[in-house]
Amino acid sequence: MELKTVKLAYFSPTGTTKKVLEGIAETIGAESVQHIDLTRPDILSKDIPGIKDGLVILGAPVYAGRIPPEAEERFMKLKGNDVPAVVIAVYGNREYDDALIELRDIAVKQGFKPVAGGAFIGEHSFSSEEMPIAAGRPDTQDIGIARDLGQKIALKMKEIVTTGDIDELSVPGNIPYRERVHHDNIPPETDNSYCMKCQACVGACPTAAVTFNGEVITDADSCILCCACVKYCPTGARQMHNPMIERILERLLSRAVKERKEPVIFIE
Ligand SMILES: Cc1cc2nc3c(=O)[nH]c(=O)nc-3n(C[C@H](O)[C@H](O)[C@H](O)COP(=O)(O)O)c2cc1C
Repeated sequence: MELKTVKLAYFSPTGTTKKVLEGIAETIGAESVQHIDLTRPDILSKDIPGIKDGLVILGAPVYAGRIPPEAEERFMKLKGNDVPAVVIAVYGNREYDDALIELRDIAVKQGFKPVAGGAFIGEHSFSSEEMPIAAGRPDTQDIGIARDLGQKIALKMKEIVTTGDIDELSVPGNIPYRERVHHDNIPPETDNSYCMKCQACVGACPTAAVTFNGEVITDADSCILCCACVKYCPTGARQMHNPMIERILERLLSRAVKERKEPVIFIE
């Protein structure tokens, strides 16, 4: 199959998933690379035209071993029409558990034909200078593997004559998927002595949990703890003080999670 267009469809609150997808697209050799950024909440009220040709790379972060429900909700807006797809889960160096198989199943449900998959590592959303977890990832080495996957996808696409030639993609994970974990709704807070009222946090929030009315207001019920507001705050005014996250961080830092995990790719 000829590859004119590659579409990157992602939910990526802190931008690591987006970076991995861009790395893969770099070496595929398509004439154009288009972004379908599903991260911001306004996408939920928009129509996304059905995808009719090319290749789509679907990417999402791993939250508690699953695809975040907010990402799934957004992927449900895509119509695949038998277009080949690549599924990518990005995780913070703990594990990706059932997220990749779940993303494959979402892709199939939406009418895509998964041809390849991968699990990559991105800086953990909860990582900070004091408690770094997978800090700076994806790094050059990770992007090298993403580019390598891009080349392999290009070769595979040349071999495919019709989408009927595409066999079911096998990726690790359990069905049924692990239970979703419900978290304490203690969102990040704003330290007003550092806040410049630039509203970067408002723009970064994927669920419209952060609003501005003279000062920054956070709705605990809609916060998904993605930490986009913390990472995109230019002055460090957005801070997470959540005992549950502190416990998670201590666990992560005391376990094998400190050992560097490497990306894995699935393509035949
Ligand atoms: C609520 C929440 C749960 C997470 N659960 C996991 C997990 O189970 N395993 C893991 O390795 N990383 C986990 N992470 C880290 C993210 O998967 C990781 O930081 C990812 O790179 C974020 O992607 P993004 O930059 O595209 O938002 C979690 C992050 C959040 C916010």
